[in-house]
Amino acid sequence: MSECLLQVSHVSKIVNDATGDLSILHDISLCVSKGETLSVVGASGSGKSTLLSIMAGLDAPTDGQVWIGGTNITDLDEDARAVVRATYIGFVFQNFQLIDHLTAIENVMLPLELLGTASSDAIRKRATDMLGRVGLSSRINHYPRFMSGGEQQRVALARAFVVQPKILMADEPTGSLDHATGALIMDLIFEMNKEFHTALILVTHDSALAKRCSRIVTIEAGQLKKEST
Ligand SMILES: Nc1ncnc2c1ncn2[C@@H]1O[C@H](COP(=O)(O)OP(=O)(O)OP(=O)(O)O)[C@@H](O)[C@H]1O
Ligand SMILES: [Mg+2]
Repeated sequence: MSECLLQVSHVSKIVNDATGDLSILHDISLCVSKGETLSVVGASGSGKSTLLSIMAGLDAPTDGQVWIGGTNITDLDEDARAVVRATYIGFVFQNFQLIDHLTAIENVMLPLELLGTASSDAIRKRATDMLGRVGLSSRINHYPRFMSGGEQQRVALARAFVVQPKILMADEPTGSLDHATGALIMDLIFEMNKEFHTALILVTHDSALAKRCSRIVTIEAGQLKKEST
């Protein structure tokens, strides 16, 4: 078996609400290898987004552990987890989550500025190149509110890929787009995934889309139900 780039080991998540303990995820184990494409499917409320957040270290499991690139992120404090996240993971969301008061290029420069490892000229050049890669060379100084949904998701993709992450996590990345625009965005995700040798973890309701990934896992009421290849 190949080595896991990301490993989820016996993860459970329980939250407390007014009615008592609520089990959201139950004993989930999963291995994601370098460069592979994995889709996570399941009904609304089954726990897909919660699992993705835990895999990225944005949320902590109640039980179990998550390893990214050989580091057990469950034991790290928030600052150390943020460093692992910035190094390994790019994120795209259904609602794009661009920063409204920053232009397209400023949004894409931000993760590189946070990493602080390159000069500002180098950062601007990498962000410009990445916006070119997603077909937005003529829109780099536009603000998100003046861009279409598809264009905003392209900016979000450029922002995710600019740090050359080893894993792209995408939570319903086409959920706010019309069918044709969504298909173009997914084509771009798969192309860039190949080009940059990035693993893809794709949460989707769309079974045709899920089938474009090399593996499909199904979550049912917080449990990993079946895996098809
Ligand atoms: N902090 C929380 N407190 C209480 N309940 C929560 C919390 N976070 C998630 N849940 C509940 O956990 C369940 C799983 O939520 P999650 O968002 O992971 O589902 P999902 O599979 O992503 O759904 P969708 O397909 O609609 O996006 C839902 O019932 C949700 O209401
Ligand atoms: Mg969700």
